[in-house]
Amino acid sequence: MSGCTRDKKRARHFLYNIRAMQPGTTNMEANMAFDIRIDVTRAKSSAVGKENGVMPVELKSVEPQIAAAHKVLRKERKDGVYGFWDLYKDRGVWGDVKTTAEAFLRKGCENLVVLGIGGSALGLRALITALRSQHYNIQSKRARKGFPRVFVMDNIDPVTFRDMMRLCPPGKTLYNAISKSGETAETMSQLMIVIDLLEKKLGKAAVKDHLVVTTNPRGKGAKPSLLHPVADHYGLKSFEVPLNVGGRFSVFSPVGMFPAAMLGMNLDGFREGCAAMDKRCAAASLDENPAYLRAAIEYLADTHKGKTMSVMMPYADALRDIADWYRQLWAESLGKRYTLDGEEVYAGQTPIKALGATDQHSQMQLYREGPNNKTITTLEVARFSKTLRIPESLKFVSELGYLRGASMNRLMAAELRGSIDALKISQRPVMRIILPVINENTIAQTLYLFEAQTAMAGRLYNVNAFDQPGVEEGKQIARTLMGGNG
Ligand code: PA5
Repeated sequence: MSGCTRDKKRARHFLYNIRAMQPGTTNMEANMAFDIRIDVTRAKSSAVGKENGVMPVELKSVEPQIAAAHKVLRKERKDGVYGFWDLYKDRGVWGDVKTTAEAFLRKGCENLVVLGIGGSALGLRALITALRSQHYNIQSKRARKGFPRVFVMDNIDPVTFRDMMRLCPPGKTLYNAISKSGETAETMSQLMIVIDLLEKKLGKAAVKDHLVVTTNPRGKGAKPSLLHPVADHYGLKSFEVPLNVGGRFSVFSPVGMFPAAMLGMNLDGFREGCAAMDKRCAAASLDENPAYLRAAIEYLADTHKGKTMSVMMPYADALRDIADWYRQLWAESLGKRYTLDGEEVYAGQTPIKALGATDQHSQMQLYREGPNNKTITTLEVARFSKTLRIPESLKFVSELGYLRGASMNRLMAAELRGSIDALKISQRPVMRIILPVINENTIAQTLYLFEAQTAMAGRLYNVNAFDQPGVEEGKQIARTLMGGNG
């Protein structure tokens, strides 16, 4: 593309964004201005050669598989086999989440402590990092707009947990215990400590004012959750994770949305972002469906080009925990020993999280000159919410002239561009995802995109993307070692 055409495009895009923000702009226009952009050109053979990049003929070859898988996914969705697709549509649940959060906030809550692990923690953590300041917990209450500090306790490290207990007096804290199965030892042990603390400090009757649980529904064929008797005993508010929604696909259920509401996040923004990406992922064709296109490229890169690793590299601190969430989603969903037909395959790429520009000084050497066995996705933001100009200081150091008067924003953009161009020179396939801005809408689009991509990738690998037998076995062994029922 010539410089002139590029500039015109940029200007059009800029004007479009401005228009979309003006009063009188329709909702549809405003939302379109938030559309995230998915660019796979640098993962194609035309960019990095046919040994490393996916060729048009290869993409063509998976089209029948994609079309067939699309039908299966649509049917399963219609039959309610997998419910993550439609979580954003359940107005009843979203309303309940909002009013419950408002009620707890009205009572005055200084700290929100989430007890959960894996799929019951990573989505929420990604939202917090993306949508709240990186220094949120040390901001004043005023800067937090009166919303509570937040602690996501997703480990059983006694030091960390004790530190949290010291910082969060139970009388000023709301705990949200989240476990879909309602039996995970890590979460249950945390809950036992918290209940003991609440009973001792505030008395049994007060527990319900400080604890909410989120777990499997009762009955409906679900294995009974151990959180049910706890909820009954103390009269707790209890949210459901629908039976047909797995832990790592549950961020838009109360698992992610109740804590998000407690932190004042814009739930409508999440719903709009999900709806927008759902619409974009409705077609079977690779040209129209960005999730299927990304799934096809990762799958072909792995199975035809030896790219057994998938790096997710955000270029914004706010997006760093999306890489962590994606790491679980991609690993647990696709890392499978058996196909759906019971054949041994040992499928799955190894997902890796990195952060630009930080990891350019840690990982980039390997990504450029080590084994050419990775795809790299950069997660970018076109417009940071703040600008930071680099002042005209240190004038006596002439070598720093190129930084004087520039901005950190421009430097970050240059670092990103430098990396992806350098990766291209080394013939490393790169895909780019560009968020126009970071807000609830664009974050929801991004997470929904990855969920849809993972569902399609499961079909391409012919594995069950929605179970995790390898995790379950480990959980059982640990329980037995503790003297429990394995
Ligand atoms: O994605 C998954 O299913 C897992 O990572 C679970 O979320 C994780 O093991 C925690 O399980 P639970 O929510 O049942 O406590």
